[in-house]
Amino acid sequence: MDTKPYSTWLEIDLGAIKNNIKQIKAMTGTRMMAVIKANAYGHGVLAVAKAAEQAGAAWLGVARMEEALNLRAAGIKSEVMVLGYTSATMIPEAIKNDIHVAIYDSEMAKAYELQADKVDSRLKAHLKIETGMGRLGMAPGLALDFMSTYYHHPKFDIDGIFTHLARADEPQVDSAGSQLAIFNKLLAQLRGASLCPPMVHAANSAAVLNFPEAYFDMVRPGIALFGLDPSPGSPVPETFRPALTWKARLTSLRVLPPGHGVSYGSVYVTSGHERIGVIPVGYGDGFRREAGQQVIVRGKLVNVVGRVCMDQCMLQLDSVPEAQVGDEVVLLGKQSSQEISANDLAARWGTLNYEVVCGLADRLPRLYSE
Ligand SMILES: Cc1ncc(COP(=O)(O)O)c(C=O)c1O
Repeated sequence: MDTKPYSTWLEIDLGAIKNNIKQIKAMTGTRMMAVIKANAYGHGVLAVAKAAEQAGAAWLGVARMEEALNLRAAGIKSEVMVLGYTSATMIPEAIKNDIHVAIYDSEMAKAYELQADKVDSRLKAHLKIETGMGRLGMAPGLALDFMSTYYHHPKFDIDGIFTHLARADEPQVDSAGSQLAIFNKLLAQLRGASLCPPMVHAANSAAVLNFPEAYFDMVRPGIALFGLDPSPGSPVPETFRPALTWKARLTSLRVLPPGHGVSYGSVYVTSGHERIGVIPVGYGDGFRREAGQQVIVRGKLVNVVGRVCMDQCMLQLDSVPEAQVGDEVVLLGKQSSQEISANDLAARWGTLNYEVVCGLADRLPRLYSE
């Protein structure tokens, strides 16, 4: 991996992603849809899609049609599904590109039918059921009627039915269990009427870890593919490996005299002669403009001082006299015995690890290793 041209970059270990996928496949013993929306949770969608295919994920899940078409344009051949909303005007493209869409109401199905009529083949779709997430989904009471109309419809190929769990990371609360009971009751009705699609799916990463009864015919993990925890209370097993490290290079190092302001607003002022370093990373990269940040230099945690700028921030390096311009600095990941995890950054920023990795800007070069 040649990092020399870059001042900040992401190192992504595709071997870790493949390891995590293989472990999920071994744990669940079922088919997998690798959920790689939002640029594969910041890890870079095309490289991750190929790695997921190689590791045995037969399906790829994204949120939007543009993401699905991007996969097809790059030559990805696996089954691809849009889990969220698809505009009816995109249905001919979905059919031509062999992309599965989610349907969650009858009006939508009617609009899709009009568009599907323009193309000489059938629309592949999965019916999404509301069981307690309160987001997208058809009320279970409407599903039998819907399937009576559409399961054998000449323009539709409804090959899946799915739901999404709101609290699968909290196995102690009675939420996922209730959602699954509602879903199972509907599945029984549909089976009784011979109207149940062949592929049933419900499990996100947290359900993969906590609810084997949610595995059905396919699991849909996202965050765990990247070795990250669905929540601090539902960690991935120790054998899963985080795939991403965020690095930067120290681009300047100076001793500033006492009383010298650092960065916009001079909210930090040196109290003596201080060694102040600069790294070319800022909020334009997804490194938040917040006080109290730390990074790792020469195996030691050091403080970011002054306000984070769009493309740069400053480090207090008095505790690292051996630091030099050109040194590798770690913002997320390990260096020597120190580590800053996505959970650590999430705690620092008052958010969750999902938002940390999804917030990594497109402009950050992504360098891959196996
Ligand atoms: C419908 C659906 N399935 C699966 C996932 C994957 O979830 P996770 O990243 O928690 O595994 C998501 C992500 O939010 C989703 O929206």
